[in-house]
Amino acid sequence: MTASPTPPEALFESNLPSLQKICSGKVRDLYAIDDQHMLIVTSDRLSAFDVVLPDPIPGKGRVLTAISDFWFDKTRHIIRNHIADLTLSEVLPDPVERSQVEGRAIVVKKLKALPIEAVVRGYLIGSGWKDYQATGAVCGIELAADLELADRLPEPIYTPATKAAVGDHDENISYEATVELLGEDIAAQARDTALALYRFAAEYALQRGIIIADTKFEFGLDENRQMVLIDEALTPDSSRFWPADSYRPGVSPQSFDKQYVRDYLETLDWDKTSPGPSLPEDIVRHSSEKYAEALSKLTAD
Ligand SMILES: Nc1ncnc2c1ncn2[C@@H]1O[C@H](COP(=O)(O)OP(=O)(O)OP(=O)(O)O)[C@@H](O)[C@H]1O
Ligand SMILES: [Mg+2]
Repeated sequence: MTASPTPPEALFESNLPSLQKICSGKVRDLYAIDDQHMLIVTSDRLSAFDVVLPDPIPGKGRVLTAISDFWFDKTRHIIRNHIADLTLSEVLPDPVERSQVEGRAIVVKKLKALPIEAVVRGYLIGSGWKDYQATGAVCGIELAADLELADRLPEPIYTPATKAAVGDHDENISYEATVELLGEDIAAQARDTALALYRFAAEYALQRGIIIADTKFEFGLDENRQMVLIDEALTPDSSRFWPADSYRPGVSPQSFDKQYVRDYLETLDWDKTSPGPSLPEDIVRHSSEKYAEALSKLTAD
């Protein structure tokens, strides 16, 4: 991964010599701590259509970290999460290294990630809308015949996907296929927990002026095969966030998430394969502001 020249406050890729890097995902850099723990650093990289763009969005990683932390705390009554008791100063005693990742690094329990993405949709948008137009169903779940773009679904639906290998796209699978992969107990628990998390968060966010149209969770299993919420939770990267005040069924909603960048990319003649195009400065700035706005709206009293 190579970085374009970036504003000083943006972090494209972390560099922590005192820890051993395990790998870098599209957005996160993972470092080993010990057998049971790792450090996750959320960079300012933005991936769209599964391609990491050359320009980071300044501050995005900190916003995503703050939003995930917020939800991890708020959803403890539904499921345990991966946040560990160790502090950042304990694992990164060097103040210079620590300052590079402060606010964007979390110490987590290292768990065995389930090989699925637990997707919940409350509104008809994106690939769900395309699927519905073509088949009258979303991922095989039949819906009423008269729904419009961005309509709220009568009930949130669970539409799991496989976790794709690097460079591949996730693929939707049926609930039955998740039973094959995970066994009946874990598959049902993943579905029920994802739906419970979505319902709780969607209601909470709506009171603060944000519609969470859809979202994706990841779960891991601990040594006792107990399920734990991992990765990021209910952020504008893993979800579609819409401002509630301008929402209208039938109209493509504005968003607080990377849809704004996706919409810009759709105006280009780009085939959605790597390398991605560079972003104009105003798109970067606006996107940065949108992420910050999502955080302040959500966490407002
Ligand atoms: N507590 C945890 N234990 C083990 N793995 C974890 C944990 N939390 C997150 N992960 C994994 O760390 C990676 C995070 O990196 P990142 O979000 O950048 O991945 P990605 O390339 O976006 O892939 P994905 O589409 O799966 O999110 C994911 O593969 C996720 O499954
Ligand atoms: Mg991810």
